[in-house]
Formats: sequence, C-alpha cells, structure tokens
Amino acid sequence: MTRSINFFEEQFQKQVAKGEFALNPFEEAVLPYLSAGVLDLGCGLGNLAIAAAKQGCAVTALDASRTGVDRVNEAANKLGLPLAAYQADLSSYVIDGDYDSIVSIGLLMFLPQNKARAMLADIVCHTKPGGVAAINVLIEGTTFMGMFEPGHHYLFSEHELSEAFKGWEILLSQHDDFPAPENTVKKFHTIVARKPV
Ligand SMILES: C[S@@+](CC[C@H](N)C(=O)[O-])C[C@H]1O[C@@H](n2cnc3c(N)ncnc32)[C@H](O)[C@@H]1O
Repeated sequence: MTRSINFFEEQFQKQVAKGEFALNPFEEAVLPYLSAGVLDLGCGLGNLAIAAAKQGCAVTALDASRTGVDRVNEAANKLGLPLAAYQADLSSYVIDGDYDSIVSIGLLMFLPQNKARAMLADIVCHTKPGGVAAINVLIEGTTFMGMFEPGHHYLFSEHELSEAFKGWEILLSQHDDFPAPENTVKKFHTIVARKPV
C-alpha cells in the first residue's frame, strides 16, 4: 500500500467514526453534470457517488480504501440505490466498458506519471459520445507534498487537462488555490467536458 492510500484509509476511518460525510467543493461543482451510467474513479467515502445515485444515476465506484468502499456499499444497501463500490488499485487499472459519465476527483495525482497519463487517456477513450468526463487534479506549483509517496505521484501541467479534452465541449474549467500546512499551497484544476457525438 502506498503512503497516499494509507493516508486516506486512516483519514476515512476517523471520518466514518465521527459520521463526517459531506460533498467537497469539487464534488459539488461536478455533480450537476453527471447522468445515466457513471464510473467514479477514486470515490473515497463515496459522497459524490451516493449523491449521483440519489439523482438517478447508476454508479460504479472504485477506490483502494476498504473503509471507503464498505461505507459506499452500506449506504447504497440501506437507501436502495443503484450503486456498487469495489476495492481496486487504480494504478494498474484499465477501464472496462464505456460510460455516460466518468468522474475522478482528486485521484490521478496519486499515480506515477505514466499511469496518471494512461488513466486520463483511458477516460477520454471510454466516455461515450455525448457523455461527460469530470476530472480534478493537483497541478504544477503545488508545494504541499505530505500526502505523496516519493516517485509515485504526478502534478499535471496547468493546461494538460484542457489539452486532453481538445475538441470536446468544455462545460466547466476552474483553477483553485488552497493554502496548506507550513505555508505550502495546493493548486487544482477541475474540468468537465462533453465528448462530441
Ligand atoms: C483526495 S481523495 C479523493 C476522494 C474523493 N474522490 C473525494 O473527492 O472526496 C483521493 C482518493 O484516491 C484514492 N487512491 C489513491 N491512490 C489510489 C490507488 N492507487 N488506487 C485506488 N485508489 C487510490 C484514495 O484512497 C482516496 O480515496
């Protein structure tokens, strides 16, 4: 298990114990764009996957965290939602099938560069024509490195997501900077794009 997977597993155990479940700002921003069959890569505690299922989507959610996956499936069973979560190491994952919506909030930067880029290309490939991809990553200029395994992370360039979705309709594109511990910063790019039909 990498440092980042351990980091989130410990964080999720504490959040489950306290019942802390809320959409983060990136999840809130992309939720309105998700529809029909959704693949959530790096679902974490599944707040977005659950919200998407509540608005009528059929969701497949993947994450390395046992605690995250268990929480998603418990909530789905309790609420009778069309949502299933599976534990998976996404650093060696190939998407099987095409989806109306593929969402990945805060995952790709935790993969080595070649895997992060391959996963982004796979998302581009497996979004159905007319479907939507919603991606959030940390980008260059980020100086908070505490969550990263050395050599096992990738900060995307400022325009890399925009270039990946060239020719798609850009529905949302926003850059956000957040202060982090010890005078460091986290710089994010979030993009939602619709694939041409
Ligand atoms: C910043 S959290 C984002 C979680 C959720 N999408 C959200 O926005 O709250 C990063 C997630 O990536 C997952 N993750 C990191 N590396 C992973 C890997 N190699 N395979 C699967 N999941 C991984 C972590 O377990 C964690 O849930």
